[in-house]
Amino acid sequence: MREITELCKRRGIIFQSSEIYGGLRGAWDFGPLGAALKDNVKAAWKRHMIQLRGDVVQLDASVLMHPRVWEASGHIENFTDPLTECRTCNARFRADQVTQGDASTYECPRSDYSLCEFGEPRQFNLLFQTHVGPTQESGSEVWLRPETAQAMFVDFAHVQLTSRQKVPFGIAQVGKSFRNEITPRNFIFRVREFEQMEMEYFVRPGTDEAWHEYWIKHRWDWYTRYGLRAENLRIRPHASDELSHYAKRTVDVEYRFPFAWSELEGIANRTDFDLGAHAETSGKDLTYYDGERDERYLPYVIEPAAGVDRAALAFLIDAYRDEQAPAAKGGTERRVWLQLHHALAPVKVAVLPLSRNEKLVPTAREVADLLRPRFPIEYDDAASIGKRYRRQDEIGTPFCVTVDFETVEDDRAVTVRDRDTMTQERVAIDQLSTYLDERLDL
Ligand code: GAP
Repeated sequence: MREITELCKRRGIIFQSSEIYGGLRGAWDFGPLGAALKDNVKAAWKRHMIQLRGDVVQLDASVLMHPRVWEASGHIENFTDPLTECRTCNARFRADQVTQGDASTYECPRSDYSLCEFGEPRQFNLLFQTHVGPTQESGSEVWLRPETAQAMFVDFAHVQLTSRQKVPFGIAQVGKSFRNEITPRNFIFRVREFEQMEMEYFVRPGTDEAWHEYWIKHRWDWYTRYGLRAENLRIRPHASDELSHYAKRTVDVEYRFPFAWSELEGIANRTDFDLGAHAETSGKDLTYYDGERDERYLPYVIEPAAGVDRAALAFLIDAYRDEQAPAAKGGTERRVWLQLHHALAPVKVAVLPLSRNEKLVPTAREVADLLRPRFPIEYDDAASIGKRYRRQDEIGTPFCVTVDFETVEDDRAVTVRDRDTMTQERVAIDQLSTYLDERLDL
C-alpha cells in the first residue's frame, strides 16, 4: 500500500486535499493523471452498464434532494455506525473496529491503542447536513446524498415514462456521494467524499432472484475484463445481521486489498422497499403497468452499487509491478510499472524525442499533433530518455514512441516501445495511427 500511495503522490495521481494547509482527513485530490484514470473507470462502467445494452438509461440528478427523501429511504433513522470514544485520549473509533481489534494506532493521539479505554457505543448518523437559503433556521436543513440511488427511485416514474423503457430495465447514475465516516482510512478506500457508479434495475417481483444472480456475474466479469485477477476477487454474501434495512439479500464483490479482503461493490436485492417507501411518503403512485401481462405492480430492484475511488484503487494495486528488467547498459535494473488495462491507462501513447535537439523536436511535435486527436497522449522532451521511459512505465502508458536521428535523416519512421513486453518496433510515421489503433484495446 505504501508503494502505491508514494507512486500516486510522486506522479501527481492522487494526493491529500488542501495539502498546503496540512490536509483534511478523508479528502483526496486526483491530479491530472488520477482524474483521467477515474474518467476511464467511469467510461468503462458506462460502456458495459449502459452503452452496450439497450435496457439501461442514464440519470444525472441533483446532490441536494428534498429532505423527505431521506426520511422515506430510512437514512435519517438507520444510516448510522456505532461510535465509541476512548475515555483517556478522546479518540473516536467505529465500535465494530474496536471489537475486531483492528483500530489503527495512528488514530489514537498517543499512538498506543492498547492504552485506550472505550466507553459504551452510541449510534452516529453518517449524513452530512447543510442548510439551503440564507438562514440556518429549522426547516432549512438538507443533506448531501450518501448514495446516488435514491434519485433513481424518486425519478422512477418520470424516467420510465419519458424513456419508454419496459420492465425489466435500469436507471444508472455516476456521481458524488458524501458520508461523515467516523474513521476514514486506507488512502482512498474509505473517504468522506467519493464517487459512486450505481444502477437500479427494475424487475417483476418473482424474477428478482434470477436477476440478482445475473448482475453478480455481470459485475464479476467487468472487474476481470478490466484487469483484476480472479484470485484477488471474491463474492461474499451478507450475513442476516449485516443486511441493510432495505435488502432481502446482498453480496459484496470483495478485493484482496493489501490491508484485508474488503468491499469493492455491493449488489443488493432491494425488493420494492424504496419505491414502496417513496410512494407512501409522497402519496404518488409509483406502480408500473405491465402491458404484456396486463398487470400493475411495484417493481423489485436489483442494485449493483460500485465506488469509483475503490475501483480505481483496486485497479492500481492489481496493476502494480516491481521487477528486475534488462538494463540498456547490460545487466538488470529495477522496473516499477503499472500493467493497467489500455482502456484505463491515463495516457495511451507518449511521444518522446530522443533528446531535446533542434533537429528532432519539430518532427516529434509533428508526430504528437498527428496522434493527439485520436488518443490521450503526452509529449515529453525533458530529462534523459531512460528517465522518461521510467515515468511512462510508472503511470502505465501502453506505448512510447521515440523520434531519433534516423527518423529525421533517413526513414521517417519511429521506434514504438510496448510497455508489457518492452519490445521495440520501427513503424513508419504515416502508418503510426493505424498501428496503434490495432494494438490499443480501448
Ligand atoms: N446504494 C447502495 C450503497 O450505497 P454501499 O455498499 O454503501 O451501497 C456502494 O456503497 C459502494 O460505494 C461501496 O461498495 C464502495 O465502493 C463505495 N463507497 C461507500 N462508502 C464509501 C466511502 N466512505 N469511501 C469510498 N467509497 C465508498
